[in-house]
Amino acid sequence: MNTGKVDVLLGLQWGDEGKGKVVDVLTPKYDVVARFQGGPNAGHTLEFEGEKYVLRSIPSGIFQGGKVNIIGNGVVLAPDLFMGEAQDLEKSGHPLKERLHISKKAHLIMPTHRILDRAYEAAKDKNKVGTTGKGIGPTYTDKVSRNGLRVGDILENFDAKYAAHKERHMQMLKALGWTDFEGFEETEKKWLEGIEYMRQFHIVDSEHEINNVLRSGKSILCEGAQGTMLDVDFGSYPFVTSSNTVCAGACTGLGIGPNKIGNVYGIMKAYCTRVGAGPFPTELFDETGKLIRDLGHEYGAVTGRERRCGWCDLVQLRYSIMVNGVTELIMMKSDVLDGFDTIKACVAYKLADGSETTELPYEIDNVTPVYKEFKGWKTDMTKFTSEDQFPEEFKAYVKFLEEFLETPIKVISIGPDRAQTIVRK
Ligand code: GDP
Ligand code: IMO
Ligand code: MG
Repeated sequence: MNTGKVDVLLGLQWGDEGKGKVVDVLTPKYDVVARFQGGPNAGHTLEFEGEKYVLRSIPSGIFQGGKVNIIGNGVVLAPDLFMGEAQDLEKSGHPLKERLHISKKAHLIMPTHRILDRAYEAAKDKNKVGTTGKGIGPTYTDKVSRNGLRVGDILENFDAKYAAHKERHMQMLKALGWTDFEGFEETEKKWLEGIEYMRQFHIVDSEHEINNVLRSGKSILCEGAQGTMLDVDFGSYPFVTSSNTVCAGACTGLGIGPNKIGNVYGIMKAYCTRVGAGPFPTELFDETGKLIRDLGHEYGAVTGRERRCGWCDLVQLRYSIMVNGVTELIMMKSDVLDGFDTIKACVAYKLADGSETTELPYEIDNVTPVYKEFKGWKTDMTKFTSEDQFPEEFKAYVKFLEEFLETPIKVISIGPDRAQTIVRK
């Protein structure tokens, strides 16, 4: 934790690395937690005291004693989904209205954005991205093309603004030949209720609020959504999301200068998963892949979709560490590999011309992973409380990763619960 600085926590793979759990664990050290990009495409899972929560738009710092949580300008927010999420939390005894602040500059996901998401996917036919269907792409498209509707717009003359945006979207859908509007009226009604509900929250100039927090010597933890390989610039384009998930996204998504960034926590799984379409060099199509999926419960937190599973890809991780300036790594789900005889990690790619590289190339569709094998530790680590208990084989695996990735692994997660977290000395 750095006073007067912003520490950034983000995913290094294709999302679902376990970011939500770690934000919850780290929050007590910070004054403020802030989301800087993405929207309800995210599903961040937290488990503690026998309860399990999945957060989509609300930052994962909301459970740790009265800390202010901010939804930043870089986020896209769906009022109906936000209302559902917030009301569920309030019902389970977690009041939000005082401590959750929403940026006026965050963009609104309209019901028609979600239909456009479906329509664009349908038009892509077999080149579908496999989006979460939450309207993320169309909302960010409207933002960048200067057509967006923002949270601040609800404060004045909202009905007319909404009607104009809806009409424009309807024209676009007509041009696409889209005719399926089943359930639209009901969704729109809920969405408009969501707008009214949002008015009960602090709608703020979050860039001022955040910089004032920093000026007063307090600390902020930024929570990334998705992962670096889903970044719109650096990910496996076009099979990506529509925001900058990398560390720089925290600067644009919250309004902070790059010189204010302190630690960059890179979250990685001890293996790798991906949900949706697109290249995944270390994907396993065999029994081992299925076993990882079963042991790791690798099913989407939002969509319930099967996650594709494979070995840890160190070429990909080195790239992610580079573009984010990661200062420390946090390794998740090591326990999932507890029973394996052999663990593999990809240390290079073989290219079509037969050469090998450790630098992530422009295209990763046709690369063949070169693996290094490690002896499995064959030990149930889920109840460990100190790194001294780690078996030698696991220590050797961790040491290799740290050397290859040239970055220390500071925290090791050995189960989904808040308590199953080993902070290394
Ligand atoms: P996020 O999107 O990065 O926050 O990650 P998700 O919540 O989508 O997916 C991570 C899943 O792994 C969740 O179901 C977590 O409860 C679970 N999880 C997190 N850390 C661990 C761990 O160390 N071991 C195990 N077995 N599960 C974990
Ligand atoms: P968290 O924050 C995993 C994937 C989708 C799809 C692509 C584009 O929980 O790690 P979008 O709806 O964003 O336009 O979909 O990105 N995707 C995620 N995959 N975890 C996520 O979030 C994701 N958010 C989007 O599956 O392939
Ligand atoms: Mg997730």
